Amino acid sequence: MAGSNDRSGFKQQRGTKDRREDERRSGADRRVEDRGRPEGERRMQGERRQRERRSGRDRRDESAWQPVSIDPASTPSLDDAALVAAAIDVRQRARARFSNFKVGAALETDTGDVVTGCNVENATYGLTMCAERVALYKALSDGHEIFTRIVVVADTDDPTPPCGSCRQLLWEYCGDIEVILANLTEVTRRMRLSQLLPLPFDARLLE
Ligand code: THU
Repeated sequence: MAGSNDRSGFKQQRGTKDRREDERRSGADRRVEDRGRPEGERRMQGERRQRERRSGRDRRDESAWQPVSIDPASTPSLDDAALVAAAIDVRQRARARFSNFKVGAALETDTGDVVTGCNVENATYGLTMCAERVALYKALSDGHEIFTRIVVVADTDDPTPPCGSCRQLLWEYCGDIEVILANLTEVTRRMRLSQLLPLPFDARLLE
């Protein structure tokens, strides 16, 4: 009989190993049992999407995206110059000793507040944080929820648009805001975020 061996070390080893194997088996069994439910749900979601696609109501259809609605009448809006000036100002505080590429961002909220951010680099390079996300994270942690515009300023003749990561984060938290790109002397480009991120992945696809 297993476990009757008088070499207690061996007996213990066998006991522990057997227990672990039991746990592994039951863990695997549990996973197999659990799999039925999410798979079923996944199948239903797939079928729903097929129905939606056939009926033209596919949530992933670009035309189905709804921007965050902002009532322009009740939205105090600074003039461009004030927002650009705030971005130019904060840009001076950029910590960009590795790239020497200083960026400033000014995010306007629906209440007319302006939250600014500059890029912050560090010796690992990879942990660098862009000006846009610094502004966004500051704004979110200060309790702002609705945003209208963002200005991004860099010292370049061509427009400096937000990087892919910033586009994603801005989309998820700000919706289809206006993006104003400027350098130290002029506005170089003005566009909606949906033009920069035309087919976004966001929480709606996880519903
Ligand atoms: N950077 C920004 O802060 N925002 C942008 O839109 C583009 C890039 C920063 C990151 C890094 O510190 C430096 O610019 C060079 O990539």
